Amino acid sequence: MAGFSCSLQYDQYQTILLGLMMMMTALSLGSFSCVCRAQDPSQLSLDYYSKTCPDAQKVVRTEMECAVKENPRNAAAILRLHFHDCFVQGCDGSILLDDTATLKGEKTASQNANSLIGFDLVDRIKNQLESQCPGTVSCADLLAIAARDATLLLGGPYWDVPVGRKDAKSTSLELADADIPTPDQGLIAQMTKFLEKGLSVTDLVALVGAHTVGMARCASFRGRIYGGFELTSGLGPASEALLGKLRETCPASGGDGNVAAMDYVTPYLFDNAFYESLVAGDGLLGSDQELYSSLVGFETADLVKTYASDAIAFFEQFSESMVKMGNITNPEAGEVRKMCRFVNT
Ligand code: HEM
Ligand SMILES: *[C@@H]1O[C@H](CO)[C@@H](O)[C@H](O)[C@H]1NC(C)=O
Repeated sequence: MAGFSCSLQYDQYQTILLGLMMMMTALSLGSFSCVCRAQDPSQLSLDYYSKTCPDAQKVVRTEMECAVKENPRNAAAILRLHFHDCFVQGCDGSILLDDTATLKGEKTASQNANSLIGFDLVDRIKNQLESQCPGTVSCADLLAIAARDATLLLGGPYWDVPVGRKDAKSTSLELADADIPTPDQGLIAQMTKFLEKGLSVTDLVALVGAHTVGMARCASFRGRIYGGFELTSGLGPASEALLGKLRETCPASGGDGNVAAMDYVTPYLFDNAFYESLVAGDGLLGSDQELYSSLVGFETADLVKTYASDAIAFFEQFSESMVKMGNITNPEAGEVRKMCRFVNT
């Protein structure tokens, strides 16, 4: 299988990349190598797997490098899976569960169906983890680590990922429908959904910066390009050309699955160009443009401007906000799943 052999392939590019990564990892781990807190099982820590699965991070990184090189969209897929995981019952791998006769998963929720991808890649990473350290690394932690690697591999920041999450034994389709924000949502609704998760307005603006990579389906932006695009776009020659192209990709009816990049400047580079596009009025999703153009968005518009002009400020806040989002835990007793798609029998 292409997917499997991929994990054994190393060419020069990858070796150089690995070298760089290891340097960065060494640099950032060096100063944190002793997080000497008493182990509270409900708390996450950096060294949770240091005895039980010391190579866990390396295994995830290797598979992610391979997958992202194969197709950079894989990185976007994983980042989004981690977000949709954490927003429903906390980061507990609930998003990964398949529907079965006895369990209704979250995959058919309105923002997930026909939209989430990357489940095969998660399976591949989990297989590698299971062969190294059976029954040890949770699927929720897998996603948190892989989301960091996804960011890094597309040129974004590195951060240390606290681990020790457990996988849920139940899911909630209702919560998935209620809690995951939608692209036609105004600023107040977006803020409310983030505040309900303990995330601030700053976290909202920084985390949505993940839209600097990846694609959206026509169904997610049709309303925007046939409705409000002219209202917020400067519609200079660049915007007019963009609007024309988007309407070609996404006709007024049909073509729901056709995709366009949310950051049309550098769709697979994790940079701050996404915020520049919002300042130009060219945000693809209505919800994204709201961050800059909403009549009540003084604070968010300021943050968008800051990140548009200061990539380092964006990177620092994104890293911190990702850790904060990753800290949302499910209080219910969980398990370490053997297969991410099914609870253990
Ligand atoms: C108000 C908040 C958010 C809204 C309304 C939103 C909405 C969306 C929508 C509608 C799409 C396109 C899906 C499709 O058409 O199939 C998308 C894609 C994506 N979202 Fe978000 N999102 C939000 C926050 C986030 C956050 C916090 C992250 C991660 C930290 C994230 C990461 C992504 C990524 C990487 C993609 C591209 C996925 C791909 O290429 O397959 N989003 N989002
Ligand atoms: C996340 O949780 C860890 C461990 O429980 C804690 O040390 C850290 O301060 C939290 N970080 C944020 C940004 O909430």
